[in-house]
Amino acid sequence: MNEPDLSVSLGRLRLKNPVMPASGTFNFGKEYAEYFDLNQMGAVVNKSVMLQPRQGNAPPRIVETPCGMLSSIGLPSQGIEEFLTVQLPFMRALECAAIVSVSGTSAEEFGELVSVLDRAGGVDALELNLSCPNFVDKVIFATDCGLMAEVLQECRRRTSLPLIAKLSPNVTDIVQMARLAEKHGADMLCAVNTFTGMAIDVRTRRPVLGTVTGGLSGPAIKPIVLRMVWQITQAVGLPVIACGGISNGTDAVEFLLAGAAAVQVGTANFINPLAIPETIAGIRQYMLDSGPHSVTEIIGAAWRRSAAGR
Ligand SMILES: Cc1cc2nc3c(=O)[nH]c(=O)nc-3n(C[C@H](O)[C@H](O)[C@H](O)COP(=O)(O)O)c2cc1C
Repeated sequence: MNEPDLSVSLGRLRLKNPVMPASGTFNFGKEYAEYFDLNQMGAVVNKSVMLQPRQGNAPPRIVETPCGMLSSIGLPSQGIEEFLTVQLPFMRALECAAIVSVSGTSAEEFGELVSVLDRAGGVDALELNLSCPNFVDKVIFATDCGLMAEVLQECRRRTSLPLIAKLSPNVTDIVQMARLAEKHGADMLCAVNTFTGMAIDVRTRRPVLGTVTGGLSGPAIKPIVLRMVWQITQAVGLPVIACGGISNGTDAVEFLLAGAAAVQVGTANFINPLAIPETIAGIRQYMLDSGPHSVTEIIGAAWRRSAAGR
């Protein structure tokens, strides 16, 4: 049996396989090197870096929920200087693509980060975490058409590196936001960030999280994200990186069949530090069992069949 070809091309970005960590669930990879060979991954993705060092939100910041977790970490960051001297050299040295996730509180701040990283070299793509509130009107960039367009235009102006727009699911129409990102210069989409939720402690009769609301992630959100990826990939021409509840090879294959060109493993890393290599192995095994030589043959296969009425 020939070894399956797991490589994928996301526009100009070529990956040896379609699996990578979700930002914020893997730091920049160092801790996970104790568990598996990080060079196996298609790409490494850091916790979103901000321009200046920040502490993040006050605790409690995490609540376990059935099949998932709520978090309100609040984007703590060591800032871009530490990122350039400590994290980026580590990411670059890996034999996989280096995708740098950035987050800002204004379009200018995003633009500044993008410029610095463009000049730094060794960055294969930039992922824009648009789920941060902007300073002026406290609205989340990815839930506001005008703000999202502004950030994308500013970042596009500052770099020719591939730009990944990370979408928020907390919108009425995810396809509209995907189209907007395409129109304003994104090369790829990442779908999606966490879903806003909350938990209440019945003993204290108070919200559990310090910030009252937080982001729901993990297997609980997978079916909703799958539906979003299905809708986006049929409406928009850009490659989509799926993110939401992906924990193993079967989950990943579902998203590839739904049209995703790559997948991110997030909350699963906290439960099983081997979730990423196991996901890669699971995709490979699926291909060995079911036939296609190249993983690209399964991307979007479910909607092509569905369009054909089967
Ligand atoms: C603890 C935690 C921290 C996160 N930090 C970030 C972040 O810094 N930047 C970002 O774009 N997304 C962040 N996310 C969102 C994840 O990247 C991902 O979009 C989300 O968790 C859904 O995927 P999952 O269900 O596989 O975890 C974070 C999620 C969690 C649970």
